Amino acid sequence: MSMIAAFYDNKSILITGATGFLGKVLMEKLFRTSPDLKVIYILVRPKAGQTLQQRVFQILNSKLFEKVKEVCPKVHEKIKPIYADLNQKDLAISKEDLQEHLSSVNIIFHCAATVRFDDPLRHAVQLNVTATQQLLHIASQMPKLEAFIHISTAYSNCNLKHIDEVIYPCSVEPKKIIESMEWLDDAIIDEITPKLIAGRPNTYTYTKALGEMVVQEEGNNLNVAIIRPSIVGATWQEPFPGWVDNLNGPSGIIVAAGKGFLRSIKATPMAVADLIPVDTVVNLTLAVGWYTAVHRPKPTLIYHCTSGTTNPCNWGKMGLQVLATFEKAPFEGAFRRPNADFTTNYFTASYWNAVSHRAPAIIYDFYLRLTGREPRMTKLMNRLLRTISMLEYFINRSWEWSTYNTEMLMSELSPEDQRVFNFDVSQLNWLEYIENYVLGIKKYILKEDMAGIPEAKQHLKRLRNIHYLFNTALFLIIWCLLIARSQMARNMWFFIVSFCYKFLSYFRASRTLKI
Ligand SMILES: NC(=O)c1ccc[n+]([C@@H]2O[C@H](COP(=O)([O-])OP(=O)(O)OC[C@H]3O[C@@H](n4cnc5c(N)ncnc54)[C@H](OP(=O)(O)O)[C@@H]3O)[C@@H](O)[C@H]2O)c1
Repeated sequence: MSMIAAFYDNKSILITGATGFLGKVLMEKLFRTSPDLKVIYILVRPKAGQTLQQRVFQILNSKLFEKVKEVCPKVHEKIKPIYADLNQKDLAISKEDLQEHLSSVNIIFHCAATVRFDDPLRHAVQLNVTATQQLLHIASQMPKLEAFIHISTAYSNCNLKHIDEVIYPCSVEPKKIIESMEWLDDAIIDEITPKLIAGRPNTYTYTKALGEMVVQEEGNNLNVAIIRPSIVGATWQEPFPGWVDNLNGPSGIIVAAGKGFLRSIKATPMAVADLIPVDTVVNLTLAVGWYTAVHRPKPTLIYHCTSGTTNPCNWGKMGLQVLATFEKAPFEGAFRRPNADFTTNYFTASYWNAVSHRAPAIIYDFYLRLTGREPRMTKLMNRLLRTISMLEYFINRSWEWSTYNTEMLMSELSPEDQRVFNFDVSQLNWLEYIENYVLGIKKYILKEDMAGIPEAKQHLKRLRNIHYLFNTALFLIIWCLLIARSQMARNMWFFIVSFCYKFLSYFRASRTLKI
């Protein structure tokens, strides 16, 4: 019997960010392994015209929850959505919800955050720092609370090369940053942002570091732990391989490459692609929840959830495997033939951006205009290139994360728990994982049917022929123009033609002699 699964039975659990990528997989695993848990409260806001109930309904009716419905048929009765908005004071949770429901909570998993790299500092502070502070305040009033688990990121200290499982203080106290956001105007905040985030590439990583400081300082009277995952990717094994539902990070790059929008990228092929499957992060999170509640370690423990130390894969290897999977199962209706060229050179990257990305978009928009349609490709391409440029920092560097606490936790688990809540990625086969990841994107994000593969292959073949035809025509036009204008080109042309003629004559003569 799994001790961790048994621990969550009869527990009241609170999850923030349950409608997000990580939060959904966390809920799924909890229901599947501990169907006798009492209730999962989720802090959720209405979105895109959907009420809280409709959002829950949509999650429960997704493919991800198919197995859960078999082991926990009453799952819909065990999820209780509670209105909350991290943008508002005290998260906008009503007094009734606080008293009637949240007072019974045993474990909190705080996953909600803004994961946008280019959020203005004010917004990123509100979601990743102030909201965390307010949740800690709410948690301190929960009499039955056993553990508060905060999800941070392995990149919160990406200004360092080697990162230990400790909290590195930022130069300005989070409390002062929170206060200053109340009275500084946007123009001044924009001006001081580069100085504040010093060494980090964006407001996301900076505010996640501030969030950790808040957890350490204000969660002192609680039983807290922090988990730092690296780049979270599709599921490895559970509930089935390759499940993914958002376009953040590598998923977005794979879609853009598979659809032919992105053909080259400024990335270091040998840099470690520190991907970690979402089910691995969830297994570690649940094990940390159990360990923190039962063993109450002091001081606060931080757990790195990364793959580079135990089982490194690099961007070059990943790119090749992604392309190989496109050959087997191409994405439907690609704009161009998928390709993946890597460069670390600024000038080559700029040239590729102009020739390989912007120029085809402009030509395509010209064609759309001619055919009376709305041009959209240039806008789309500009947005894509801006997103990719924000990822460049992470795909051109490698980091080392120590994993002592994560290894210690693994050694504390029973063999059964090590199996059910496996977070050891040394067994992960990257080629298989990446193939499943690409297929998962095709199925769960693009909603493409596997039956459409032969037609997609045919489309790819057509694109390849168009590509060769276009290149040949371009070469011939340039060559004809050169010959018409330059004596040197004419001489070269005469030399090549006479050389080919002589070679053919010699070849024919030697064949006649042999006969
Ligand atoms: N994905 C990664 O690669 C990665 C890597 C390292 C660490 N992490 C960390 O893992 C955690 C989960 O990330 P994720 O990938 O699951 O992100 P995600 O899919 O973007 O989910 C974010 C969650 O936060 C919620 N949220 C955002 N703003 C909110 C607001 N104003 N009020 C209420 N809820 C709000 C979202 O709710 P809505 O559905 O209503 O928007 C969603 O449920 C985050 O703390 C992130 O920093 C992620």
